[in-house]
Amino acid sequence: MFPLQVVNRPNAALRSNIHGIDLKVPVLGGKKKPFIFFDNAASTPPLKTVLQQMDEFMKWYSGVHRGTGYKSLVSSRVYDHSHDVIAEFVGADPVLDTVVLVKNTTEAINKLSYRLGLKPGDIVLTTEMEHHSNDLPWRQQARVEYVQVDAHGRLNMEQLQNLLKKNYPRVKLVAVCGASNVTGHINDVHRIAELAHGFGARILVDGAQLIPHHCFNMKPHSHPQHIDFLAFSGHKIFAPYGCGALIGPRWLFEQGAPEYSGGGTVNMVFRDTVYWGSPPDRDEAGSPNVPGAYALAATLQYLKSLGMLQLSRNEQRLTSYLMEGLGRNREVILYGSTPRVGVVTFNIKGLSHALVGAILCFEAGIGVRTGCFCAQGYVRRLLEETENPDHLQYYMKRELHKLPGMVRVSLAAYNTEREIDIFLQLVEQICQNKKAYRDSYQWSEQLGTYVPKDLGVESLLEEIYQRVGF
Ligand SMILES: Cc1ncc(COP(=O)(O)O)c(C=O)c1O
Repeated sequence: MFPLQVVNRPNAALRSNIHGIDLKVPVLGGKKKPFIFFDNAASTPPLKTVLQQMDEFMKWYSGVHRGTGYKSLVSSRVYDHSHDVIAEFVGADPVLDTVVLVKNTTEAINKLSYRLGLKPGDIVLTTEMEHHSNDLPWRQQARVEYVQVDAHGRLNMEQLQNLLKKNYPRVKLVAVCGASNVTGHINDVHRIAELAHGFGARILVDGAQLIPHHCFNMKPHSHPQHIDFLAFSGHKIFAPYGCGALIGPRWLFEQGAPEYSGGGTVNMVFRDTVYWGSPPDRDEAGSPNVPGAYALAATLQYLKSLGMLQLSRNEQRLTSYLMEGLGRNREVILYGSTPRVGVVTFNIKGLSHALVGAILCFEAGIGVRTGCFCAQGYVRRLLEETENPDHLQYYMKRELHKLPGMVRVSLAAYNTEREIDIFLQLVEQICQNKKAYRDSYQWSEQLGTYVPKDLGVESLLEEIYQRVGF
């Protein structure tokens, strides 16, 4: 393997700050191996320092706003200030924008779909490369048109422009991912913003995969490339405590009723009239997730102190290293193209994606993800598959291994070249011994994964469940 030329300290600092980085897991042969986590696009692990900070903060945790004790004063300040830290991290305007705290990207996009005030006949342009969370919410509120992708999964920018032109002025929003969770492909969202604005539409960037891996700035409101709305999840950026963000122009959230109403959303309630509160309160119904907000803000502050640019450069270097390694293997089919974040999907010719995922887990303690990654249309397109009713039957019978899919490795800046080497060696080994692996694994309906015939996975898992008390 080619050694990486630069070993940057922010990477190492981040790695040593990962809670659980030294976990060992049982593998075939009765040994334990360090767990290699390559599923960062799903959720990232928490940070030790943030856990310590949270431990201190939790002594002061209480309900926010209008509590009169010290705890409520401290919690209110922490909660409110978290919004400002999040805004700053993505270059939102502190006056013109508001940060609405939600659970995750899915909730953020659903919220926006209700709050945009779409009318019958309005069109939302989304794309064939979206996660279901940036597709299904729009189907419920508007006519949805899809921008196509090419065989490598890249957006057809010409068609995007044509759709904007053809449907002018009915396109109200272009809803597009900053980076794909399937190919990692990075869209030029600022250029898309400029196009959308040129046709009187606004843009939502689904930042679930972009914000954790890239420096990002929404740009000033006066800029033609300004991002109107941004959604992202804390749990994908080292803050897995149920807090995400929807950021957008304050004026929009000053209008209309929120889709969830109740405590916290109002200034005054009379029997016949409700006077809604100001943003973001109007859109944060009920008692908020104060620890989640604290964790997200503290994590963003930490990442900023390390330098997002440095971290993303290192992730890019690791990604190229991984792609080169997989690219040398003739049995491997790689999907997508550049530019991309550290998401790399592949298949091994003649082996089920689910089987490859299981082998990586039980032979080497490597955690990846397999299947369609909540982007079934995009995966089908890349695999040149059509919509097939049999697939629904497989799903209902929990025969997930029969469904089309891919194996996804998703890196973060704390991963290492050494981890990638271990992975590449095993992929090589799998490719050379396909039949032996096929024969020594069986599908477990109960676990929804392949398991080695002679490892006794159930009892090993039982041991771990007991350790975590479940
Ligand atoms: C691109 C993209 N958008 C949206 C989502 C949904 O994120 P969440 O599950 O945090 O709501 C994901 C999750 O994987 C994603 O990758």
